[in-house]
Amino acid sequence: MASTTSPELTQFAEDVLSGLSSSPKALSSRYFYDDEGSRLFMEIMNLPEYYPTRAEMKIFTEQKAEICDAFTSGTDGIDLIELGAGDGTKTAVLIEHLLSEDVDFTYQPIDISQEANDALETRFKEKFPALRIDPHTGDYFKVLGSLKSDSGRRKVILFLGSNIGNFLRDNAVAFFKSLRAVMNENDRLFVGFDMQKDPRTIVAAYDDKQGVTAAFNLNLLTRINRELSGDFDLSKFSHYAQYRPMECAARSFLISREKQTVNIKALNRSFNFEQWEAIFMEISQKYTHAMIDELAGDGGFEIEREFYNDEDFYIDSLWRPV
Ligand code: TRP
Repeated sequence: MASTTSPELTQFAEDVLSGLSSSPKALSSRYFYDDEGSRLFMEIMNLPEYYPTRAEMKIFTEQKAEICDAFTSGTDGIDLIELGAGDGTKTAVLIEHLLSEDVDFTYQPIDISQEANDALETRFKEKFPALRIDPHTGDYFKVLGSLKSDSGRRKVILFLGSNIGNFLRDNAVAFFKSLRAVMNENDRLFVGFDMQKDPRTIVAAYDDKQGVTAAFNLNLLTRINRELSGDFDLSKFSHYAQYRPMECAARSFLISREKQTVNIKALNRSFNFEQWEAIFMEISQKYTHAMIDELAGDGGFEIEREFYNDEDFYIDSLWRPV
């Protein structure tokens, strides 16, 4: 496809072009989180069907002392770095505990959305006047690379919400390896994993009754219309979610409800859709213990300790570099 792209196309434009030109069609969920996407996502986290946020919240609330001890043990202070903090509700539980224990620490959220970072900074400055907060807007690795040689203190990197599940396995391994490359031996990585469970519970989480998850997926078409001068008619696409238990994978799709052609001016291209043709939008991988163990090893880490919520079957896993 590269031969048809002009050099001034943005990464977003290039990815949309290659995704809609492939068979089957696909769009990358990394583009979900414009300002509206980030807002819709925070709505998803409060839906009755969306259990992972509450599951992780329960782990933090019930085990904050053990978690914070594991973060700080053997150090005189830490830099707590969070990848994609969202509204920070869960992390606030840990921050409150660290402050109450007089731990010397900074909190550095990294997010691609400036609006999300600004909102988080305002909320946390109000909630925790004593907190040293230093948000960074941008790509995770660029920011982390710039922090690598920083303070010499232990960095504890949080990657919560089972966001790792939104990567295909090879990409997840590559992601962990890239993190490993900007970490020192004494740093730690704290990763949230949603575990395999009743398939009905999982499907409901990605196909809520109010249609917020549908709106979240469709918002990417709105973004293409706005940023790339596309003419997607959102009423002609519908959201569909499925779970395949043999792979432990939930997937979401946008389905073309009729045969249609969509024009995207910035790409100088039109794309044909058959009736009921699907665009693959996102994977949400669920995990078994064996899968987590293997991922850690392949990424260059070993599991130091795990924190469970048995009832919802969710795990926060603390990793150290090997
Ligand atoms: N990583 C979380 C999950 O897979 C959050 C998430 C990403 C999500 N994209 C989503 C949740 C789409 C609902 C719909 O569950």
